[in-house]
Amino acid sequence: MTTEIEWWDYDDADELAAAVAGDVQFIIESAIDARGAAVVALAGGKTPLPIYEQLAKAKLDWKRVTIVPGDDRLVPLGDPLSNVTAIGKVFIPRGARVIPLISATVADYKAAGRAADAILQDLHWPLDLCLLGVGGDGHAASIFPGPDFDEALNGPKERRALGVMPDPLPPEAPVARVSLSKAAIVSARALMIAITGQAKRDVLEQAIEQGVSSQYPVGRILADVELPVDIHWAA
Ligand code: 6PG
Repeated sequence: MTTEIEWWDYDDADELAAAVAGDVQFIIESAIDARGAAVVALAGGKTPLPIYEQLAKAKLDWKRVTIVPGDDRLVPLGDPLSNVTAIGKVFIPRGARVIPLISATVADYKAAGRAADAILQDLHWPLDLCLLGVGGDGHAASIFPGPDFDEALNGPKERRALGVMPDPLPPEAPVARVSLSKAAIVSARALMIAITGQAKRDVLEQAIEQGVSSQYPVGRILADVELPVDIHWAA
């Protein structure tokens, strides 16, 4: 299978943010028109925050919008590493339903993954959109090399989320994670990637070229996507 990939290059991060926010707005509006509701998974990390600031300004029927993080770090709500906290700060004031994947009471990462899966099983599926970031090490969502890599990539199709212990732990957030599975990501009705910087572009280009046997998680994910994927990039 050859994944159809379209690159969109922007002069700077602000231009990227405006364009991606516009595309996400359109996807949400289309889902609301078609079904009366939209369910989207948004990337964690820092790169997408300007996109979210732009998107939050959109005139949307926000109470019909459900947002989940595509992955989260196993930390309490409010922690600076918590993806849902960063996303919630932007979209809860607009009236969106922002659903955490992690409940503060779960300490064991595998149990946290099962709990996240149960939460996602209650949502309308497939996702209308999955927006992914990419780490400098080639991870996307929280699919990382380590003991859970194979399950994340090749687990049962109905498994939407799982617990992940990255090995090695990424220095910017050295904690266990919960993540959408590859099956959940590739089933989304729309898949978008937003990244900045030449280093991530180089990793992503290499990952795409390597395909299904890529050393990079994002390469393995993209090799299995059936819909066209938009990659938005700014230096
Ligand atoms: C996470 C993210 C992850 C993110 C990359 C890039 O929680 O780690 O969801 O997949 O997109 O790590 O993060 P930055 O944008 O902060 O570089």
